[in-house]
Amino acid sequence: MDKKNLNDAISAGYDSWILRDKRNLLIGFSIVMHTPDLSHLLLIAIKKDFQRKGFGSLLLNWCEKKSREKSSGISLEVRSSNDIAISFYKKSNYKCIGIRKNYYRDKNLCEDAFIMEKLFHKCEQNGK
Ligand SMILES: CC(C)(COP(=O)(O)OP(=O)(O)OC[C@H]1O[C@@H](n2cnc3c(N)ncnc32)[C@H](O)[C@@H]1OP(=O)(O)O)[C@@H](O)C(=O)NCCC(=O)NCCS
Repeated sequence: MDKKNLNDAISAGYDSWILRDKRNLLIGFSIVMHTPDLSHLLLIAIKKDFQRKGFGSLLLNWCEKKSREKSSGISLEVRSSNDIAISFYKKSNYKCIGIRKNYYRDKNLCEDAFIMEKLFHKCEQNGK
């Protein structure tokens, strides 16, 4: 998501959350758009110095908690090359359900997106 899309998403009033530390310093943020069937995780990011300390999972759990009030699951797109994010989502029981070919177009470069999804009722059935 580029800066313009980020500003557009915040202006559109999508749910946006910021995670801060005790000194009020920014750790990370996330943006979720809800529709009646699924919520869409548009962005989640943790500042480099704070990565791999569980903050991303904390924020993702929060997004899921808020989305459970409005929809039956979360879907998202992730760059096919973003191995870290793919591992991150898989660890939280997101499944890859499809590919959007050439979804990301930056100047001359195109990249596929994996569509990942977590359906809440399935997690409850599996106790997750
Ligand atoms: C993806 C991202 C949000 C993860 O946040 P995080 O705070 O580092 O994640 P956590 O510490 O909660 O990690 C949870 C799990 O994700 C996986 N994971 C996270 N970072 C990883 C890494 N560098 N390498 C491999 N697996 C990783 C692991 O399974 C990890 O569990 P473990 O530490 O018990 O092995 C963070 O890396 C980030 O901001 N990346 C840049 C932005 C981005 O790509 N966002 C997603 C696309 S919109």
